[in-house]
Amino acid sequence: MMMKWWQNAVVYQIYPRSFQDSNGDGIGDIQGIISRLDYLQELGIDAVWLSPVYASPNDDNGYDISNYQAIHPDYGTMADMDELIEKARDRNIRIVMDLVVNHTSDEHQWFIEAKKGKDSPYRDYYIWRDPVAGGVPNNLTSAFSGSAWTLDENSGQYYLHLFSSKQPDLNWENEQVRREVYDMMNFWLDKGIGGFRMDVIDLIGKVPDKEITADGPKLHDYIQEMHQETLKGRDVMTVGETWSATPETARLYSHPDREELSMIFQFEHILLEEEPDKSKWDIKDLDLVEWKKVLTKWQVELTADGWNSLFWNNHDTPRVVSRWGNDTTYRKESAKLFAILLHHMRGTPYIFQGEEIGMTNRVIQSVDEVDDIESRNMYYERLEKGYSEEELLHLINVRGRDNARTPIQWDDSKHAGFTEETPWLPVQPNHVEVNVKQALEDKESVFYTYQKLIRLRKENPILVRGDFKLLLPAHPTVFAYERQFEGERWLVCGNISSEPQEISLSESGEADVMIVSNYSRAAVDLKAIQLKPYEAFSIKLK
Ligand code: NOJ
Repeated sequence: MMMKWWQNAVVYQIYPRSFQDSNGDGIGDIQGIISRLDYLQELGIDAVWLSPVYASPNDDNGYDISNYQAIHPDYGTMADMDELIEKARDRNIRIVMDLVVNHTSDEHQWFIEAKKGKDSPYRDYYIWRDPVAGGVPNNLTSAFSGSAWTLDENSGQYYLHLFSSKQPDLNWENEQVRREVYDMMNFWLDKGIGGFRMDVIDLIGKVPDKEITADGPKLHDYIQEMHQETLKGRDVMTVGETWSATPETARLYSHPDREELSMIFQFEHILLEEEPDKSKWDIKDLDLVEWKKVLTKWQVELTADGWNSLFWNNHDTPRVVSRWGNDTTYRKESAKLFAILLHHMRGTPYIFQGEEIGMTNRVIQSVDEVDDIESRNMYYERLEKGYSEEELLHLINVRGRDNARTPIQWDDSKHAGFTEETPWLPVQPNHVEVNVKQALEDKESVFYTYQKLIRLRKENPILVRGDFKLLLPAHPTVFAYERQFEGERWLVCGNISSEPQEISLSESGEADVMIVSNYSRAAVDLKAIQLKPYEAFSIKLK
């Protein structure tokens, strides 16, 4: 089977605002990224997913785009962007751009024109409805709290926004909108980028009048059309952000014969921390047995006819070491454990910036410290509904998006080497011990576990292509699985708990050489394995 480059690849996500400032304004920028390409090369990654750097009023930190073909001055210029693409390519790193086309900013020229009145040639680029009984057209809600409809006083009509009121939804039914999007995509593809990460792409087929948002009837027609008009014949990767995905729909998106996307991000393992059919703020404890079952389902059900992406966290989620690991006593051990468990699975792994040094969540004490629009809106909405301040701050600390967005900790200096001036979001106090400089100097650091895992994927087709089999499905804390490919078998095992565990995996046969271990373990007796807190390892089997 011919593998595509992105099936063997490891992708690193950069949230540019927080990566590296080069001009002392406290905001990360493109020249900052260029200055850190050597670091990324040393880590060994193949592609960067770059969160938006386009012109934007930053209501949602760049996910509200006012010009798709311009770079935000905070980040630099188009010349900087071209330089980044080229200098990354020199290091065999491809730049995958964020494509945010479910909505634009309300400051995009199209929306400014559309608002001028019902006769505007751009009116139909967006979704407008008359009031119903003097109020909103229906019950659709915004992911950022409140109704998804905002009244435009001028025309007396409401426009739809599934996110903030400054993010009006584009009308994908309009062929002209689709044409504009494809032309814009080709502009970027012609620059030689490595592909696109497609923001909430499962929403573009929405049918607002039926209150259908994800998985609308024309969704896959649009993606197939997009493929024909932009991606076809180009050696690029695409990954769709699809909160609604199931293995069945994942096959629709990623079956090669269907010519849609390379892969999607599914979120089922993350949604397990939410009460079903409620919001991300209605949290429940993670059931690890369920979690293993979900991960296994995706490993087993998406094989020849589709492709998985693998990730624990991104700019919208808390950091894995704080959420599912232990970010105090066992910070390093648990950061390495999650690395080992993810990078031995089948699919394309994604690393969120800072994950490779075990960066932790941000802890806040007051809503004044919150930058993220989603957390702020939720806070004020629920405060009015009678929730206590303490409860709401707890929710933000557990699930808020600022957790992942603090500046990268490059060294132990005042602003962690991220900037010389005041950073847009404060640097975490633990940067004095958790930082890249320290990690590079310590051969036992989390960084070198990631580096080794990335290299292993390049050298061992079993990791990319092997079958997956879950072991000990009912064990409450141990995640253990086998991979198998052309007669070779590997066993991977991790104890997701701060309590030691004793297990037996004798049915897997006999252990051969140890591959990776987060406790410098040299050997293992599969009949009786004593696992230390957050211990993880992989081993070849005879
Ligand atoms: C998903 C993005 O990852 C998130 O950051 C953003 O707020 C929404 N889509 C809206 O664009």
